[in-house]
Order: sequence, then structure tokens, then C-alpha cells
Amino acid sequence: MSLILKDVRKGFHQGETEIQVLRGLNVTIEPGQIVSIVGQSGSGKSTLLSLLAGLERADQGEILVDNVNLTPLTEHQITSFRAQNIAIVFQQYHLIAHLTAVENVMLALEILKMDRPRERAEKALNELGLGHRLNHFPSQLSGGECQRVAIARALVVEPKILLADEPSGNLDIHTGDKVMDIFFEIVRKHKITTILVTHSDVLAKKCERILRLEEGRLKEI
Ligand SMILES: Nc1ncnc2c1ncn2[C@@H]1O[C@H](COP(=O)(O)OP(=O)(O)OP(=O)(O)O)[C@@H](O)[C@H]1O
Ligand SMILES: [Mg+2]
Repeated sequence: MSLILKDVRKGFHQGETEIQVLRGLNVTIEPGQIVSIVGQSGSGKSTLLSLLAGLERADQGEILVDNVNLTPLTEHQITSFRAQNIAIVFQQYHLIAHLTAVENVMLALEILKMDRPRERAEKALNELGLGHRLNHFPSQLSGGECQRVAIARALVVEPKILLADEPSGNLDIHTGDKVMDIFFEIVRKHKITTILVTHSDVLAKKCERILRLEEGRLKEI
């Protein structure tokens, strides 16, 4: 799926003052492209991802996902569009503590009423090298393993777009590298349009394209 931003603007009110975080973003991302977004802390990277996910609305401009303009959609339409097309991986894993690894992944499929949830969830976890941890609870998994469960949960629904916000930010360098190698392998194999927010130059350079968010605008680097 393609992603097109046309003059996207977003600000926040903080008491009396208003801060303009995104001040006119224009970009076209082709289907299957893997793009990293870099920029200083507070530059608006997470804000941009929440607009792309339809979790927040832009103040101005258009966001076209596969030529569907998100702006005029109702909350209900956005939620359903997101569920069918967009997956998100956060720095925190957001796993459900009382569900096992396989149950956490199955839940994503059950919400979408997809068939054979257990079989699909096991396959996704196997793909991430977690076939031997299916019945462990999050508290019994390492950070890297939890993040791999979160990635499996994101990918199992076969999203067209994957948004990842510093997915290896909580992991040590070695574990982070391993998790991200698998991440890249899977998104390439399935040709998923991927936006990866990262503070790591090394990770950014593994993407096909790097965009820097600076002073509210996106710059190609
Ligand atoms: N809900 C909100 N209300 C008020 N201000 C907000 C809100 N969300 C974000 N901001 C402000 O918008 C700016 C951008 O925040 P954002 O989280 O997008 O930055 P970021 O680039 O993801 O930073 P980091 O690299 O630290 O994660 C920050 O100055 C932040 O304080
Ligand atoms: Mg952020």
C-alpha cells in the first residue's frame, strides 16, 4: 500500500501556548518501501506515526493510505480500516500479562475473526524463532522475546503497512540487532510498506530510504 502526505499539520495546546509539531509534511511512500524516520527527541516522530495509524487526526492536510483519504472518515471507519491494514509495534511491548505468547498473538486474529488462529499464531512465532516459547507468559520471557511476540502479533494479521516506533529501543544492542534482522527479513519477504522510527543510524541505513523530521518538516537524506 502506498502512503501519501499532503501538507500535513499537527499542533498541540499546552495551556496558553500552542506548539506546532508538524508544519507541512509532504511525502509519497511507495508500496513495499521500507523507510526510516529519524530526528531529535520531541521532533514529532511518534506524533507522525499516530496520524498515519489514524490514532490521532491531523489539523490540516491529507493522509492517503492506498489512495483512501483518512481525514473525512468517521472514528468507526478509521478503526476498521486500521484493523484490516495497519499494524503497529511500540517500544513497550504492550503484551497482555495473563495470556501466553501464543494466546497474545491469537488475540489479534480473533478480534478480526480470522480462521485457524492457533495455527497462524504458532507459525508467526516460529518465524520469529519463538517456537519453543509458545506457552510462556510475558513475565517468563526476556525483553527480546517479548518484543518478538509483539512483532509476531503485528505481522500475523498480514498488514499492508507496518508502523514501528523504536522497536529495539528497550533491548541491548546484540538482542536489538537480532530482533531487527528478523524484522527486516519478514517485512521484505512479505513486501510490507514499513515506517521505522529509530534513533539508530545503523538501523536507519538498513532501510531503503531515510527521512529526517526537523523543524516540523520531512527532509530526504
Ligand atoms: N498529547 C500531547 N499534548 C501536548 N503535547 C504533545 C502531545 N503529544 C506530543 N506532544 C508534544 O509534541 C512534540 C513531539 O512529540 P513526539 O512524541 O511526537 O516526539 P518524538 O519525535 O517521538 O520524540 P522521542 O524521540 O523522544 O520519542 C513534543 O514536544 C511533545 O511534548
Ligand atoms: Mg517518540
